[in-house]
Amino acid sequence: MGAFDGKVVLVIGGTRGIGAAISRRMVADGACLGIIYRSRVGDAEGLADELRSQGKTVVLIQADVSNVAALNRAMDEIIDALGRLDVLVSVAGTAIVGPLESYADDAFDQILAVNVRAPFFAAKKAALVMTNGGRIIILGSIVADRMPGAGGTLYFASKAALGGMIRGLARDLGSRAITANLVQPGPIDTERNPANGPDASINRSPLAIPRHGTTEEVAGLVAYIASPEAGFVTGATYNIDGGWSA
Ligand SMILES: NC(=O)c1ccc[n+]([C@@H]2O[C@H](COP(=O)([O-])OP(=O)(O)OC[C@H]3O[C@@H](n4cnc5c(N)ncnc54)[C@H](OP(=O)(O)O)[C@@H]3O)[C@@H](O)[C@H]2O)c1
Repeated sequence: MGAFDGKVVLVIGGTRGIGAAISRRMVADGACLGIIYRSRVGDAEGLADELRSQGKTVVLIQADVSNVAALNRAMDEIIDALGRLDVLVSVAGTAIVGPLESYADDAFDQILAVNVRAPFFAAKKAALVMTNGGRIIILGSIVADRMPGAGGTLYFASKAALGGMIRGLARDLGSRAITANLVQPGPIDTERNPANGPDASINRSPLAIPRHGTTEEVAGLVAYIASPEAGFVTGATYNIDGGWSA
């Protein structure tokens, strides 16, 4: 028996990096999976083929979740195809970094649309269809709490907004035993933050455990929060950051 046998899990941004590890972990634990991704068809179809070849049910939809109408359509398609929704994990994020004076006029809207607006409207739609005991999890970042340096003001601000959102969702949905929790990773070895990249040692310098985390470690934490065991955990922020904030 897996923790997610008979459950439907949707991972928004579930085809690469941390999201792909969450997708793999959820289906390994028994879930039927919906995944939304933006543009990298080869990566997305490769992962879906891998999971389907193990006999798993995967519904894959391409949509840019910065557009609320596209997000809603994609979620409707997945929920129609899989018949229900038990766990929503919002992973997709975007970053524009650089000197303050270099930010274009639309940078604010671009970042907030993906990092803040999309998880909010995804949670709203999920709550409409979830039964009691559902789970909503959003991927933030440890930079919400402590700034490692200059150049990321909008990214940091967008991730900081999620703490307030998660506490609000926990209050909105607690009477239905639907939990809402935030996961804040530190440096995780991914394409956007490789453990052997040029900034890797700078990224590791604030850590108590001086290495990048793995995507599987984040997926393990998400799997716990999404599981039936975590029914009394809500409105919480979990740092998985190698001691960045210690
Ligand atoms: N990696 C780290 O060190 C780290 C640290 C702290 C927090 N985080 C957060 O963790 C999350 C995942 O990061 P990551 O580095 O693993 O991967 P990522 O490159 O941020 O995201 C990859 C996934 O999100 C999808 N995606 C991105 N924008 C989208 C959009 N507008 N609409 C639909 N899907 C979209 C991608 O689809 P495509 O493949 O088609 O583009 C892909 O499936 C992000 O929220 C990030 O801010 C990461």
